[in-house]
Amino acid sequence: MIKSLKIWLTLAAVAVTSTSALAVSDKKRAEIEERIKPVGEVCLQGDSTCGVVMAASSGPRSGEDVYNTACLACHSTGAGGAPILGDAAAWADRIAKGVDALYDSGINGLAGTGMIAKGGCMNCSDEEVHAAVDFMLGASQ
Ligand code: HEC
Repeated sequence: MIKSLKIWLTLAAVAVTSTSALAVSDKKRAEIEERIKPVGEVCLQGDSTCGVVMAASSGPRSGEDVYNTACLACHSTGAGGAPILGDAAAWADRIAKGVDALYDSGINGLAGTGMIAKGGCMNCSDEEVHAAVDFMLGASQ
C-alpha cells in the first residue's frame, strides 16, 4: 500500500513538473518566435496597417535626396578635386562631355580618381544616380 502510494505520488509529481515545463517552453517558444521574426514584413500598397514606412521609401528618391545622402560629402567640399555643386566653371568642361558621359561617371565612377561608383551609394538605383547627376548639373550651370 505504501509502495503504491509512493509510486502514485511520484507520478503525480512528474505530471505536475512536466506540465509546468511545457508551459515554460510554450512561453519560451513565443519569446523565441518574437525574437526571430523577420525584421521587415511585406506590406502591400493600400494596406493602411503598415503603410507608413513603405510610403516613405516607395518609389525612387529624388536627385536632391540622393545628392544630400551620397554625393554632398565630396561635392560640397571639393574633396579629392570633386567639382563643387554650383561652381559653373568647374562643371563647364565636364558638361561639355555630354550628360551620358556624366551619368556613366556617376554610376561607374571615374577610374583613378576619388569619384567612386555611385558615390559609394550601393543601394542607389541607376535611375537615382541619374537624378542626382541631373540635380548637380541643374545647380551648376
Ligand atoms: C568620395 C568622394 C565623392 C563622392 C561621395 C561622390 N563623388 Fe562625384 N566626384 C568625385 C571626384 C573627386 C570627382 C572628380 C574626378 C576627376 O575628374 O578627377 C567627381 C566627379 C563627378 C562627376 C563628373 C564626372 C566626369 O566625368 O567629369 C560626376 C557627374 C559626379 N562626380 C557625380 C557624383 C554623384 C552623382 C555622386 C553621388 C551619388 C557623387 N559624385 C559622389 C568625388 C566624389
